[in-house]
Amino acid sequence: MEKIVICGKKPLYGTIDIAGMKNAALPILFATVLVGGKFYIENLPDVSDINLTLDILKRLGATCVHNGDATEIDTTEIDPYAELPLDVVKKMRASYYLVGAQLGRYGKAHVGYPGGCDFGTRPIDQHLKCFRTLGADADVNGGYIEAYAKEGLYGNHIFFDVVSVGATVNAILAATRAEGSTIIENAAREPHIVALASFLNMCGAHITGAGTDTIKIRGEKDLHGCSYDIIPDMIEAGTYMVAAAAAGGRVMIRNIIPKHMESVTAKLVEMGVTVNIGDDYAEIVRDPAQPLSRIMVKAVPYPGFPTDMQPQICALTCQAEGTSYVSEGVWDNRFRYVEELMRMGAHILVEGKTAIVEGGAPMKGTQVSAVDLRGGAAVIIAALAAEGITVIDNIVLIERGYDDIVGKLSAVGADIRKVSFPD
Ligand code: UD1
Repeated sequence: MEKIVICGKKPLYGTIDIAGMKNAALPILFATVLVGGKFYIENLPDVSDINLTLDILKRLGATCVHNGDATEIDTTEIDPYAELPLDVVKKMRASYYLVGAQLGRYGKAHVGYPGGCDFGTRPIDQHLKCFRTLGADADVNGGYIEAYAKEGLYGNHIFFDVVSVGATVNAILAATRAEGSTIIENAAREPHIVALASFLNMCGAHITGAGTDTIKIRGEKDLHGCSYDIIPDMIEAGTYMVAAAAAGGRVMIRNIIPKHMESVTAKLVEMGVTVNIGDDYAEIVRDPAQPLSRIMVKAVPYPGFPTDMQPQICALTCQAEGTSYVSEGVWDNRFRYVEELMRMGAHILVEGKTAIVEGGAPMKGTQVSAVDLRGGAAVIIAALAAEGITVIDNIVLIERGYDDIVGKLSAVGADIRKVSFPD
């Protein structure tokens, strides 16, 4: 079993280059099934969720070949109904994008109910609602999501009850080739939604309004492959910004879109961290002895503070002076990582959907677990600032979404290694 071992209290100096955004790449990879054609995708991150998705595409009969920095994908001839083992689709949430993609291209979908990180209940009612609104029968049956549009899909008016990234992606996928026009209201505005829409438009689709809460789609059957460069990962960038603030030092985080980083940047500045922003970089500067100010932060849909950064900022507030309040506004239960921080000495009380953090308690390395992807990043951040050695297990969850986190942090001076332990 591999674990990450960190010896803390080493300030970080140097440059970290940010990889392509996993959460943009996943819907785009599934969209290649919807379109059918040859694609040349650049800047795919080397993380296990992406490799699993490429494996799913191959199981459907697509060819996926790495060629330098690009991945060539051909989904022209695929068997859309090749059986995908449940244990494969359950490894991640994004496998449900195959429902929108299959339904949009073939009028029929049959995909195992997805898994993903455990944040409490993760309903899919809005996904089913959008498929039904476009004319399909859709339900969950025996562990599978099934959807069938006997008469084909027809454009319609979709009004989401909640802001959902996943349901917005599935609505776009299903509506792109539908007959007529679709309007999606109360759509998610995340950069990954904009990326998916711009990818599909390069394939010949007619999608406008992505990035606002109203997306309009004029159905288009005649789609084709394209070349596409995946946008930088704002959560990976935010994680290293917070890591640099926690460890102290001076770190240049390159290949970012600063606009995507505004909510994280604002909180770091509020805590007293220096953030120098350039065209495509953020430089984080902090003297490790410099005190950090307490904050109140609430995770909400974009452009608010991202739920995917909530655990990492909570780890940083453990060092702040006074009481910080870290609230979760997207998921019912995204505080399982708090217990791991408490093993290291953090003083945190979780009340409902808020973590109340008494900052400044001395933190010491010990054995902890990555309870989920971003919770794993939070314990790495805490370990960088803690006294002594931290050993983190269950690191496969971290590797779902961080491209070479050990290599990138050790290149800027962190004492971090991946070590194989006997099972
Ligand atoms: C969410 C985050 C996304 C993050 C991902 C993984 C938001 C809006 N979404 O995306 O940024 O990358 O988790 O951490 O911040 N919901 C329903 N019915 C549905 C679908 C969702 O009630 O059919 C609710 C969920 O319970 C949740 C909220 O909507 O409270 C947002 O869920 P959604 O955006 O769909 O989740 P992800 O796409 O996984």
